[in-house]
Amino acid sequence: MSNELAGKTILVTGASSGLGKAIAIYFSTVGARVVLTGRNEERLHETLKDMSGSNHLYFIADLAKVESTQAMMDTVFANVGALDSVIHCAGIQKTLPLQALKEHHFDDIFNTNVKSAQFIAKFLRKKGRYNSQGTSLVLLSSVAAVCGEPAISSYSASKAALLGLSKSLAIELARQNIRVNCIAPGHVGTEMAIEFSKQLTAEQRENILLKHPLGLGKPEYIAQAAEFLASDKSCWITGTTIFVDGGYSAH
Ligand SMILES: NC(=O)c1ccc[n+]([C@@H]2O[C@H](COP(=O)([O-])OP(=O)(O)OC[C@H]3O[C@@H](n4cnc5c(N)ncnc54)[C@H](OP(=O)(O)O)[C@@H]3O)[C@@H](O)[C@H]2O)c1
Repeated sequence: MSNELAGKTILVTGASSGLGKAIAIYFSTVGARVVLTGRNEERLHETLKDMSGSNHLYFIADLAKVESTQAMMDTVFANVGALDSVIHCAGIQKTLPLQALKEHHFDDIFNTNVKSAQFIAKFLRKKGRYNSQGTSLVLLSSVAAVCGEPAISSYSASKAALLGLSKSLAIELARQNIRVNCIAPGHVGTEMAIEFSKQLTAEQRENILLKHPLGLGKPEYIAQAAEFLASDKSCWITGTTIFVDGGYSAH
C-alpha cells in the first residue's frame, strides 16, 4: 500500500485534533499533498509542523455553517485545484442524558456532524473540483450508529445519518466517479474519547473495554482504513461502511 496516495491531493477536515490530525500526518508520510481544515489555527499549525513534506496547506472553517463550508471549498479549489479525496473527520460528541438535552445541543451535533458532510459533498461535486478519474469521499461515522449506548442518542442518530447519507450520495455521485463510504470507528483514545471517558464510572470504562474483543483502538488503525478508501485499491467500493472497531459491532 505504501505509495498508493503518492501525488494525490487530499482534504482532511478535523485536522487540528485526534483522528483527523493522525490521518493528515500519516498521509503526508505516504506522499500525499494534504489540505487541512479546522477552526483552531494554532492547532492546525501544530499538525502542519508534525507532517512530512512541505507542500501542505491549511484553511480555517466552521463546518457547522454552510457559508463557511462553501467558502472553504471555494478557497481549496482556488489554491490546489481538483481533489482526489476528502476525509471528513470533523465532528462533535456530547454526553447528554435526555433530562439534560436541549434543542441547541441536538442542532449543534447535527449541524457539525451531518450538515457539514451533506454540503461538503455538494460543493465537491462542482465541475473541476473532483478528479473525474476517481475521487473518494470518506465520512467518519461511529459504532454508535449501530450499537446503542445511554446518553448519546443525538450523537448516535447523527452517526447513523451518515450511513444513509453515504449510500444515497454514492448512487447520486457515481456518474461523476466520486465514491462515498464511511469508516465507523470503535473507541480510539483521542481527545473526544478521553472527554467521553471522563464522564464514565470505572465500571462503565471497564464495560467499554470489554466491548472491544481486540482491545481499544489506535489512531493509526483508522488512518490505514482511510488510506485504503482514499486509494485506487478501493476503486469498486462505494456506499458502504468499514467498521474499524476491534469487534465492538460484532456483538
Ligand atoms: N475517537 C473515537 O473514539 C471516535 C470513535 C468513533 C467515531 N469518531 C469520529 O471520528 C471523528 C474525529 O473524532 P476525534 O476523536 O478525532 O475527535 P476530536 O479529537 O475531538 O477532533 C474533532 C475535530 O473536529 C473539528 N471540529 C469540531 N467542530 C467543528 C466545526 N464546527 N467546524 C470545523 N471543524 C470542527 C475539531 O477542530 P477545531 O476544534 O479546530 O474546530 C477537531 O479537529 C468524529 O467525527 C468522531 O465522531 C471518533
